[in-house]
Amino acid sequence: MSDDVNEGKGDDAFTLSTPLTKLIGIRHPIVQTGMGWVAGPRLVSASANAGALGILASATMTVDQLRSAVREVKSRTDQPFGVNLRADAGDARERVKVIVAEGVKVASFALAPSRELIAELKDAGVVVIPSIGARRHAEKVAAWGADAVIVQGGEGGGHTGDVATSVLLPQVVDAVDIPVVGAGGFHDGRGLVAALAYGAAGVAMGTRFLLTSDSTVPDAVKAKYLAASVKDVTVTTAVDGLPHRMLRTELVTSLEGAGRSRALLQAVRRAAGFRKLSGLTWSQMVRDGLAMKHGKDLTWSQVLLAANTPMLLKASMVEGRTDLGVMASGQVAGLIEDLPSCEELVGRVMTEARHVLGTLPTPG
Ligand SMILES: Cc1cc2nc3c(=O)[nH]c(=O)nc-3n(C[C@H](O)[C@H](O)[C@H](O)COP(=O)(O)O)c2cc1C
Repeated sequence: MSDDVNEGKGDDAFTLSTPLTKLIGIRHPIVQTGMGWVAGPRLVSASANAGALGILASATMTVDQLRSAVREVKSRTDQPFGVNLRADAGDARERVKVIVAEGVKVASFALAPSRELIAELKDAGVVVIPSIGARRHAEKVAAWGADAVIVQGGEGGGHTGDVATSVLLPQVVDAVDIPVVGAGGFHDGRGLVAALAYGAAGVAMGTRFLLTSDSTVPDAVKAKYLAASVKDVTVTTAVDGLPHRMLRTELVTSLEGAGRSRALLQAVRRAAGFRKLSGLTWSQMVRDGLAMKHGKDLTWSQVLLAANTPMLLKASMVEGRTDLGVMASGQVAGLIEDLPSCEELVGRVMTEARHVLGTLPTPG
């Protein structure tokens, strides 16, 4: 690693060159991940201007909204950035067309994309970086030609697995030959150095970037995250049937405590509210919910809630409804106490990484 460390320069110029920075042409081996309703043009361009890879979350946008969001990012930065999309979205191909036509550098996927989708993007010169939560998924997408993977350990926010980053990251590094980016639980320079020591090419952070002054999440919601302890972050399947890491709120507790019929009643009441917000018909909602079932044994209330999960996230992340919404969060929220700008955050992580590298024990 030492060959790639620019020792002797001021902190502003301190960089760590890794296979990730070289692959994408970014200054620092840091990724701001795609988070629904959170990673919009403002956050993404601020991350990109700070030298990180900013990833725009598109699953919660229409194709037209995606196109204008991409154009807005381009108007705010000339640095490379990425777009996160769901490989299983009915309109994934249309989204890919937008990514290619607008010259977006990186395509990031919440679920493993198909071999064909990867080939289509790579043929057009787009760097493909799926997010995965298990070694076998990393092996699969690597064999299909993915350029790198983001590996999310169980402590990470949003839908998540149950293997911790400290176990999953070295496991995947050993299993594939492409650059691996560690995610789940990272927030500082110590974490970046630790990930590099595991053999990663960088770190990806969600919760840490959500808690910046550049993120558009309402102040009341940011305050809930800042006040949370590590123990206030929980994994529940009560919202949409899949393990989902989020702040423990009354909504979560009441869904977990409710019997099947009470949960259904609650889900119907909430669904009625969200139907107004989303403009979906009941049959569309049930169809979306069933599509998310993925062969899992979901209750009817979970089917309704699954269809509404993006709206539940929107209620907090956009409308500031800390009472009604889902606040997806990594455990690391319990360690975060401030709201720096992306520029300050990235600078701080790199300065700390430099310091940590200088204080590691020397052999002998
Ligand atoms: C509020 C929130 C929304 C998220 N939405 C998405 C999403 O739309 N697509 C996705 O691939 N990952 C999503 N994630 C997961 C993150 O991209 C990232 O992998 C995770 O936050 C990393 O863990 P950390 O929070 O400990 O940094 C979300 C996470 C959070 C906290």
